[in-house]
Amino acid sequence: MAKLRLGINIDHVATLRNARNRDRDALPDLLRSAMEAVRGGADSITFHLREDRRHISDDDAQRLHQALKVPINLEMAVTEEMRKIALRLKPQAVCLVPENRREVTTEGGLDARSGGPKLKKIIADLQKAGMQVALFIDPDVEQVAAAKSSGALAVELHTGCYAGASAHTRQRELGRLKKAAKEAHRLGLEVHAGHGLNYANTADVAAIPEIVELNIGHFLVGEALFIGMQAAVKKMRGVMASGRKK
Ligand code: PXP
Repeated sequence: MAKLRLGINIDHVATLRNARNRDRDALPDLLRSAMEAVRGGADSITFHLREDRRHISDDDAQRLHQALKVPINLEMAVTEEMRKIALRLKPQAVCLVPENRREVTTEGGLDARSGGPKLKKIIADLQKAGMQVALFIDPDVEQVAAAKSSGALAVELHTGCYAGASAHTRQRELGRLKKAAKEAHRLGLEVHAGHGLNYANTADVAAIPEIVELNIGHFLVGEALFIGMQAAVKKMRGVMASGRKK
């Protein structure tokens, strides 16, 4: 089975910092949290530069990209402002997400079917500049097909419905993830997954052979309060390894 990479999303380290002060040297230090995540086994660092800059700032993005040796995965909305920022920042990877100002977190996947020429152009521009572009979509074979037609080379399957499912609907949601992952792989897309993953629900996602990358944030930032970021990430790597062996 292909190696399963882990990207750690540090948005909520910034949320905690911003609760007090947004200065670049305010605490907790984002770069330190990212470096601890890498020490714990993260392959990449993910952050979402939101239109309202509610957690990560432009300066944070720049500083993290300059200082870290691991790849950066920039989550961003499909807007002209973000296209220009990505072309300037040049992260190794971009994940295009829908964005709604009032949402607490990214609520659903991007509708790749209605993206049209605007979506195709932003994907083409970023890929031409050397970035790997993934579309964050719901685990739905129609969305997978639309993502393929948009020219993207990767998809990130939204695991939010699976993570939030009751004991009754969990297997159905897992089945949707498996089916979408298989179809994406068949179409030649690289398959990632994320949202709402924790120690209890990650092994079954890690067991899906077509998935090669997970992006996990909120839960691990919370766990880091109790056992530290390095240990929290290390423990997640153990969960992923046990799932991969199934
Ligand atoms: N992947 C994407 C595209 C996301 O938008 C998020 C949330 O920012 C995540 C993964 C991580 O989700 P969580 O913070 O629930 O682990």
